[in-house]
Amino acid sequence: MEYLFEVKDLHKIYNTKDQYSEAQVIFEKESFTIDKESIAIIQGKSGCGKSSLLNLLSLLDQPNAGEIAINSEYITKHLPELEIHEDRFTYSDSEDKKASFIRNRCFGFIFQNFHLVPHLNVLENVMLPQLFSGVKNEVHASQKLEEVELTEKLNKYPEELSGGEKQRVAIARALIMNPSIIFADEPTGNLDSENAKIIIDLLETLSQEHKTKLIIVTHDHEMKETLKTNVEGYRNTGRIEPIFIKDKKIIVDQFIDY
Ligand SMILES: Nc1ncnc2c1ncn2[C@@H]1O[C@H](COP(=O)(O)OP(=O)(O)OP(=O)(O)O)[C@@H](O)[C@H]1O
Ligand SMILES: [Mg+2]
Repeated sequence: MEYLFEVKDLHKIYNTKDQYSEAQVIFEKESFTIDKESIAIIQGKSGCGKSSLLNLLSLLDQPNAGEIAINSEYITKHLPELEIHEDRFTYSDSEDKKASFIRNRCFGFIFQNFHLVPHLNVLENVMLPQLFSGVKNEVHASQKLEEVELTEKLNKYPEELSGGEKQRVAIARALIMNPSIIFADEPTGNLDSENAKIIIDLLETLSQEHKTKLIIVTHDHEMKETLKTNVEGYRNTGRIEPIFIKDKKIIVDQFIDY
């Protein structure tokens, strides 16, 4: 499989709980591909379906119809025990166990509200994905905290950290299982512009270092410029892959107004 994602005729609707309002169509027959190399940025108005799309791509949710195929060789390159024999993985109910395994072992997640566990300290928060997989490694977690320059806050609790520091903990946690892909839903949404830039810089640098694909949902209209100008390797290389959602359509490979 050539691409990282091949999405075909994607159909996503949300059924409402009350019987008087209609189901909401989010995407109807949308087809597109996502590259292996570039940084993908998903943009569009509030409520257009950015988080919904991220949930579908990251196997947190399934489409109502259509298909999302993931390049299985790419995502499981360091994980032969996953035993996906086809070159593509498509999430269906029968693949539920595999999908959660992939989420834990091959994907990292970063959210706008950090999603740190308040009663765990910084180190324990970073180690959380390890606990689910039963491979505890404190040294590795400390290394990740070093990468985000938070070694001195190892024993602090989330409430003792600034917003930027919390998001750096979340980045260390997202990286702990050496994921193939990091999904970030508005990672800078709760930060001032200075901290936002630090976080984007860090994400970009670390993803290049670890060869981790980044898929970022953002409202930040400047994101394209921020990404293109701050890391030498990405300057003017066009390695940003825009994904815009507008009027239930998914438009890739071009920047549009929304
Ligand atoms: N679990 C759900 N059940 C029902 N409706 C939902 C659900 N999740 C999202 N929606 C609806 O689907 C639409 C798209 O939501 P989504 O969260 O994907 O938007 P978004 O583009 O991420 O918005 P924002 O920029 O505000 O985060 C919204 O109208 C929302 O109300
Ligand atoms: Mg959202």
